[in-house]
Amino acid sequence: DKPAVLVARKVFPEVIERLAQHFDVEDNPEDHIHTPAELAQRLQGKVGAFITLSERIDAALLDAQPQLRAVCNMAVGYNNIDVAACTARGVLVSNTPDVLTETTADFGFALMMATARRITESERFLREGRWDRWAYDMFAGTDVHGATLGILGMGRIGQGIARRGALGFGMKVAYHNRSRLPADQEGPINARWVDKETLLRESDHLVVVVPYSAATHHAIGAAELAQMKPTATLTNIARGGVVDDAALAQALAEGRIAAAGLDVFEGEPQVHPELLARRNVVLTPHIASASVATRRAMADLAADNLIAALTGGTPPTAVNPQVLGA
Ligand code: GLV
Ligand code: GLV
Repeated sequence: DKPAVLVARKVFPEVIERLAQHFDVEDNPEDHIHTPAELAQRLQGKVGAFITLSERIDAALLDAQPQLRAVCNMAVGYNNIDVAACTARGVLVSNTPDVLTETTADFGFALMMATARRITESERFLREGRWDRWAYDMFAGTDVHGATLGILGMGRIGQGIARRGALGFGMKVAYHNRSRLPADQEGPINARWVDKETLLRESDHLVVVVPYSAATHHAIGAAELAQMKPTATLTNIARGGVVDDAALAQALAEGRIAAAGLDVFEGEPQVHPELLARRNVVLTPHIASASVATRRAMADLAADNLIAALTGGTPPTAVNPQVLGA
């Protein structure tokens, strides 16, 4: 008998087949979204779980499933998992860093550009049959090249966006992060560490890439938006909740900043109605890592972690590797 695992959402059939060589796999080909009660029910008897951001793993769920040994997230962020509660119970947690870095940086840059140059707003105008003449100021946006690119959260993805801006578009890069990059990493991209207030004040295009935690909840709220340039754009590819969406909608309505690009939302898949109603917001459904190749690499890496964790191996990207030695 193979150990039993749950694959909580629909994923690539090839990945299910790989897992089935090691495990008795219960999968979800209908791609049903489980309520917490349904998830708890389906985890009964399972020693491992392959999950996504739609599954929440908390202490109560873990206490009801003491046989669970590993929770492998198909995402780099893991704010859907109570890692401390997992560690306390010896449950291995893993994520999927690195494999998505460049794909996600591509998207962050694209979303910033679409926002600055009003790509989706002008496309809607054309599709609505409203394009009947040239006009000198029609959809005039903000330049990207040569502008100051602000990055809040200089992890791997932030560095990828900075590299694109500095090397590809001649942007000046300012960033704020808890820790400064070593000089040999700042140098090639001309990146300048600044305090948060300076970042807000100087950015022409501010991109938010910081992981969500209690410390970064509403890191961009009304007070921060008030410090930005009225011509600035704000792009969020981090997590809903890092930006205060209601405060952002208000700032856009009052013309405090020029435009926003959002791939993540508080309470997604719900989107704040005032953001939906605004023209100067580019909205995408949490797809920054969604290239076919990268989604496959993420699924494979989550599977690698699950297989290693349950067969005595070393999971390649454990979040709490200390549980392995315990
Ligand atoms: C997606 O948001 C991820 O964390 O991978
Ligand atoms: C987050 O983990 C990142 O890669 O920026």
